[in-house]
Amino acid sequence: MHIDIIDKTKIPQHVAVIMDGNGRWAKKHKQERFFGHKKGAESAKEVTEIASEIGVKYLTLYAFSKENWNRPEDEVHSLMGLLIQGVTENLDQLNDLNIKLKIIGDFENLPENVKKSVDDSIISTKDNTGMTLIIALNYGSRWEMIEAVKSIAESYKNNDITLNDIDDKLFSQRLTTCEIPDPDLLIRTSGEFRISNFLLWQISYSELFFSELYWPDFRKQQFIDAIVDYQKRERRFGKTSSQLKK
Ligand code: IPE
Ligand code: IPE
Ligand code: MG
Repeated sequence: MHIDIIDKTKIPQHVAVIMDGNGRWAKKHKQERFFGHKKGAESAKEVTEIASEIGVKYLTLYAFSKENWNRPEDEVHSLMGLLIQGVTENLDQLNDLNIKLKIIGDFENLPENVKKSVDDSIISTKDNTGMTLIIALNYGSRWEMIEAVKSIAESYKNNDITLNDIDDKLFSQRLTTCEIPDPDLLIRTSGEFRISNFLLWQISYSELFFSELYWPDFRKQQFIDAIVDYQKRERRFGKTSSQLKK
């Protein structure tokens, strides 16, 4: 692993990942889809370790979308089981690495046993001051934005805000990502070039990185390569290149 190729002065503050391709990885290896998800969980663990090691402050992993409920019941069930296992078995390591766990998504509508395990790990890691690991669980960007709109409408109705108070900042504050800066880098694996209802508002100016690899094959080295690629980019935010060099 070549960690030295990273420019330590240009570490993205927030990296978000669409972990895709577990099923196709399993198929390629003539295994059940579940085996792909298990291998994918290993990648999630490795990427969490390396992100924390290089000094990423926020890492968001898209683990289960609102649309994923439409998968066969046994697959949904095994994914929930792996999630519980992930936050329980890795709890000591999270604490050792000073990582704080957070969830974004529709938490209330998750099965009780998932909520309980996740909540226990959130509480156990709440005072950690290193990286924040955010798991997008039962997450959908459109759902999140509709909820934000409802909450703003409510505040307006109660005369807590005026129309002029509604701006980028207020809207961001009503999202489940309210305390998290926007991602600097968004990674998607498995050769798909789409966003799949992930952080639509928050990725307005994120750098996008697409990998052809299936998620179980995306490990520490591949994460480092994505960071190095990110570091070569010029983020202009609407300005010209020469303005940035002044
Ligand atoms: C990503 O892998 C895991 C989840 C979406 C939960 P997939 O299960 O989507 O794998 P493919 O896309 O079918 O290969
Ligand atoms: C996106 O992957 C969701 C997660 C990684 C959790 P999907 O496999 O569900 O996305 P689509 O259906 O291919 O767009
Ligand atoms: Mg997929």
